[in-house]
Amino acid sequence: MKIKKAIIPAAGLGTRVLPATKAIPKEMFPIVDKPAIQYIVEEAAKSGIEDILIITSRGKSEMEDHFDRNPELESKLKAGGDAKKKMLDEVVGVAQLANITYVRQQEQKGLGHAVLQAKKFVGDEPFAVLYGDDVIIGEDPCIGQLMRAYEETGLCGAVGIKEVSRQDVQKYSSMKLESFKDNIYKVTDMIEKPAPGQEFSLFSILGRCILPAEIFSILEEIPYGAGNELQLTDAMKVLAQRSGIAGVDFTGTRYDMGNKLGILKAQVEVGLSHPEIGSDFKEYLKKIAENLK
Ligand code: UTP
Repeated sequence: MKIKKAIIPAAGLGTRVLPATKAIPKEMFPIVDKPAIQYIVEEAAKSGIEDILIITSRGKSEMEDHFDRNPELESKLKAGGDAKKKMLDEVVGVAQLANITYVRQQEQKGLGHAVLQAKKFVGDEPFAVLYGDDVIIGEDPCIGQLMRAYEETGLCGAVGIKEVSRQDVQKYSSMKLESFKDNIYKVTDMIEKPAPGQEFSLFSILGRCILPAEIFSILEEIPYGAGNELQLTDAMKVLAQRSGIAGVDFTGTRYDMGNKLGILKAQVEVGLSHPEIGSDFKEYLKKIAENLK
């Protein structure tokens, strides 16, 4: 079945980047000149997704404003003539990327609980999940790679995976894998935040998945897990153990906008390839690097 719907959980408290997240959603942190969540919506749109549900929460309405029209700003830019035309097109274009709707997660009870808020929107179709603080940049949009693997393998779901360090695997999740083809694996088991020695492998899920609607009944049945949160990984584990899901070692660079170092890496790497400021920024960095010990 073709994937047409995506959800973006973006309701978390972002405690790892306080105090910045006290009043600004981490999903709205800019990478040079675009907020993180815009990169994510663009990735979904490029992959053929038509309808997007953003799971939001109190104090995060900037996201809704960002994807809305802004008549006052638009008329000001229009009055600026040719000089402002490109900016005007960009501002209007953001509001036309996809059909975007919103639902609020009233209490932050974990990613699994956030996904449950999408039950009505999803209905009985398979759907894509793009984590709101994971920006993945590459030629071939990541969620599109998962959509192809989902169709090719005929398995009931797909997850984006990457090999991470031993310390990081304990912070994320660990996958039990069988080879399928090239960069595609069959995931037959998984564990969220494994204690040292509990890991199946150093492959973790990073930010993207395709799930069947059945995930909702699983989420409604399983107990709360690590950190007393309803863990999406625990629900996906049921699917993996039952029939296996595809694991795609995707191409593209992933930036974790939910942690301080991830935010800085995104600024530097995206800044270096930015058409407007890339070369000046490179000169600046070279100068700084000369004095680094
Ligand atoms: P994270 O676990 O990275 O987000 O969830 P968090 O809870 O905001 O992080 P910290 O630990 O407090 O810093 C990944 C994605 O899932 C969303 C987040 O907004 C993020 O985009 N999320 C997380 C929800 O929508 N609801 C939740 O209850 C938890």
